[in-house]
Amino acid sequence: MSVPSLELNDGHKIPQIGLGLWQVKDQTEFNPSFTAGIEAGYRHFDSAQAYDNEQFLGEAWKASGLKRDEIFLTTKIAVQNFGENKSKRAFAESLENLQTDYVDLLLLHFPVTILRKKTWRTVEEAYKAGQARSIGVSNYTIRHLEEMKDYAEVLPDVNQVELHVFLQQPELIKYCQDNGIVVEAYSPLAHAKAMNNAVVAKIAAKHGKTYAQVMLRWLIQQDLVVLPKSVTPSRVKENIDIFDFELDSTDLTELATQDQDLRTCWSPVHVP
Ligand SMILES: NC(=O)c1ccc[n+]([C@@H]2O[C@H](COP(=O)([O-])OP(=O)(O)OC[C@H]3O[C@@H](n4cnc5c(N)ncnc54)[C@H](OP(=O)(O)O)[C@@H]3O)[C@@H](O)[C@H]2O)c1
Repeated sequence: MSVPSLELNDGHKIPQIGLGLWQVKDQTEFNPSFTAGIEAGYRHFDSAQAYDNEQFLGEAWKASGLKRDEIFLTTKIAVQNFGENKSKRAFAESLENLQTDYVDLLLLHFPVTILRKKTWRTVEEAYKAGQARSIGVSNYTIRHLEEMKDYAEVLPDVNQVELHVFLQQPELIKYCQDNGIVVEAYSPLAHAKAMNNAVVAKIAAKHGKTYAQVMLRWLIQQDLVVLPKSVTPSRVKENIDIFDFELDSTDLTELATQDQDLRTCWSPVHVP
């Protein structure tokens, strides 16, 4: 399976699909999901300090026999680790857990009020030291991103936000793309909370694809990165099998009408 990549602001490339690892806390679930991912062609893994599985990812990629430059590792500074010294210590621990001396992408997990500015310094320092090849943020609204123009020395390459057919956020996507920020769509399957939409099901049948594949393909065609999570090996495989078909303009018009402003995770909208 050949997975396309997007180019980041800093010149590095990011595979357009990554395996989501939130809520994969148990190694007996982690390892089959990781192995199915590698076999199916995933090389991008989306972890975080808050997921409590960096250490599983470190062990798993080492055991895979892949070279470090053949995989793309993301982690995120957890909310409870914000602050200058705490975030530095936590990031050092992440590198240890992941058994590497750099991550491909380091994100701030959430726009924590006030502390987000100080903690961004840690991310910038990691970038300058080569310990984070690319850097970014998560759950940032346009307002949080605009504010960065005042305090950031290095602007983010990536913003990872909740995005799916039922939470379309076209203004945020446009803002990011106009500002050279690649958008990663988290919970691209709406956390499996809306798997019975008639329009999505009809389009899936038309293309001989599954419901989940249509959800993911819709994001891919907007030049976004998708991060589906599954601990079911057959679904891990199904979710990457999305590069051999195309949604047409009729499909896209119909899907555009399905936005429900459905947030399955936290909302950063009112974070000052
Ligand atoms: N930055 C952030 O704040 C943030 C927040 C949320 C998520 N994320 C990232 O985004 C990733 C994905 O988000 P998510 O875990 O919330 O949800 P998701 O990927 O939208 O959905 C996962 C759910 O869908 C099921 N599923 C997966 N593939 C399926 C398929 N082909 N058919 C039917 N059901 C399927 C999974 O079940 P099984 O696992 O049982 O197969 C699981 O219940 C996370 O793992 C994480 O890496 C980031």
